[in-house]
Amino acid sequence: MRVDAVTLFQSMIDSPLSESIVGRAREEGFLELGFVNPRDFTENRHRTVDGKPYGGGTGMVMMAEPVYRALKTVRKKNSVVILLTPKGRRFDQALALELAKKKHLIFICGHYEGIDERVTPLADMELSIGDYVLTGGEPAAVAVIDAVTRLIPGVLRKEDATVNETFTDGLIEAPHYTRPGVWRGQKVPEALLSGNHKLIAEWRRAQAQELTGKAKSASAVKKKPAVRRKNFK
Ligand code: ADE
Repeated sequence: MRVDAVTLFQSMIDSPLSESIVGRAREEGFLELGFVNPRDFTENRHRTVDGKPYGGGTGMVMMAEPVYRALKTVRKKNSVVILLTPKGRRFDQALALELAKKKHLIFICGHYEGIDERVTPLADMELSIGDYVLTGGEPAAVAVIDAVTRLIPGVLRKEDATVNETFTDGLIEAPHYTRPGVWRGQKVPEALLSGNHKLIAEWRRAQAQELTGKAKSASAVKKKPAVRRKNFK
């Protein structure tokens, strides 16, 4: 897959996506990541890319023309152009699966107070990663590219790592444990030590169903605690 990012701050995307699984996916050619900087498409001496908002207000707004010109250099017939903005459609695993099938994604990252609204029709979709405001679209692009890249066939070594996991079948995954069997007084659940594959699969399924039920009802009443603190021995 090819991904291009239209951004003033390339390293905010390039650097985190050079590590770990996505970094390896880039080295192995599963993901080709390119960048285009609107600042290279300005015509004024100071290479200005932003201006004061019409009507007044705080902050600066990115100008439409440099973004338009930057986009034009990478956009092809089969490109899916995604504008990152907190007012966009909420990103989720179902959309990650859909995007993982595309040949070419382009992410437009706003910065400062955002981009001139008139660039919106250039995009195929507006996307948000959650109801909070980031300093720009770059951290959101990182999250989306990460989630999509690991779904590209061949990126994760174990085929079932993407199939059996959280959200793909609509259930939150069962919890995982590794050595030691007892850690600071906490034991690994009996079923996982049984060696009985059927029992293990049943236990995981039941856990997943329970967790999903809990998570759904907790979020419905917006009372899910962020952490459950425990005193360690
Ligand atoms: N830009 C700023 N905040 C954002 C968010 N929550 N999602 C996507 N893009 C953003």
